[in-house]
Amino acid sequence: MAEKLAIEGGKPVRDEPLPPPYPGALVMGEEEKRAVLEVIEHKSPFRYYGPDMLNTVSRFERALEDYLGVNHALGVSSCTAALKVSLVALGVGPGDEVIVPAYTFIACVSAVVAARAVPVFVEVDDSLNIDVDDLSAKISPRTKAIMAVHLQGVACDMDTVLSVAERAGVAVLEDCAQSFGATYKGRKLGTLGRMGVFSLQMNKLITAGEGGCVVTDDRDLFHRAVRCHDHGNLREFEGGSPLLGENYRMSELAGAVAGVQLEKLEGMLAKMKRAKQEILAGISSIDGLAFRRVPDGAEDIGTSVIFFAPTGETAAAFVNALNAENIDSSQMYGGAIYDAYPQVLNMSTATPEGCPFTCPHYRGKISYHHGMCPATESLARRLVYIPLAPTFEDREIADVISGVRKVAGYFL
Ligand SMILES: Cc1ncc(COP(=O)(O)O)c(C=O)c1O
Repeated sequence: MAEKLAIEGGKPVRDEPLPPPYPGALVMGEEEKRAVLEVIEHKSPFRYYGPDMLNTVSRFERALEDYLGVNHALGVSSCTAALKVSLVALGVGPGDEVIVPAYTFIACVSAVVAARAVPVFVEVDDSLNIDVDDLSAKISPRTKAIMAVHLQGVACDMDTVLSVAERAGVAVLEDCAQSFGATYKGRKLGTLGRMGVFSLQMNKLITAGEGGCVVTDDRDLFHRAVRCHDHGNLREFEGGSPLLGENYRMSELAGAVAGVQLEKLEGMLAKMKRAKQEILAGISSIDGLAFRRVPDGAEDIGTSVIFFAPTGETAAAFVNALNAENIDSSQMYGGAIYDAYPQVLNMSTATPEGCPFTCPHYRGKISYHHGMCPATESLARRLVYIPLAPTFEDREIADVISGVRKVAGYFL
């Protein structure tokens, strides 16, 4: 007889929750403490001047350039800022459309709106990244950029995304917020499109609490990004002319932590990849579960296990039952972006004139409604997400396998 589920009063697979999904924060220690303390001792927490500078942000940027194999990296205050700065650097503005996957975090939409362009949603496929067939269909004469979001440690089908973009003459901006260090055909994500962005927010692979990065091989785009993030200044370089930028600078405290965390990244990824492989080996034969597809050439860095149940009801019940077993899980965003976030569906801009949707420069017709990306809606309903952490040892790996097998025995 099958063991009774914890949700029905049985003994849970684990007595306590799994480590929380904050990979970088979980491995913080003496190295980060020393780095922050040093900035304070030098009384120089600002990146561009101070009495006794350590240049932690610049040093982090140079280390990131080496790690990714890219010409230019810029530390900024968040990945949302990185997206906005990159879009503006690419020349995206009023009248333009930017393609955004219909399954992603709201920052992808808000950054496009902040750049005063209109987000156009494209279906995701069973890889949970851009569906390349729908991508071709959604490109219009107004499209200026494609935001290729590499969700949860797995690359988009970049060969196809890049060739669609090239044919259409539009830029690709890679959002690597959830995929720091992952590769596609051996190349680090963020270096394949014209620009790439990363997040250092708390639940990302490496973290400084908050923070972000912009990377590009293109010197002019880089200079524009630097100016956009620092009131139009270009303090350390020469070229171009000032523009009305904002302030999205990274502090030396964040730079100090980010530098240490970057040194820990490869070790964390090795542990997460191993945990993911062992968990998949233990659950992939379960009938009735369809696992998230990894596109050819994409590496899965193991930030989570994601599978699709046969129906939305089964997925919701599965998640509740797993949580009762102390296997932390959820349905991630809970729906396509316009279903998960009412401010997207209702185009609720912060100011009442409704720019960019009502902007006279915009010649397209846009509306968002339930049913507009049916494949994404179905995947989102049936999705079960189990985050993994770099501190998983054999015990945690075995528990995830037992938990999924136990719950699947009831529901499938
Ligand atoms: C795909 C994606 N893009 C952008 C962001 C925004 O990152 P930040 O919180 O650093 O602004 C996130 C954060 O969760 C994200 O998941």
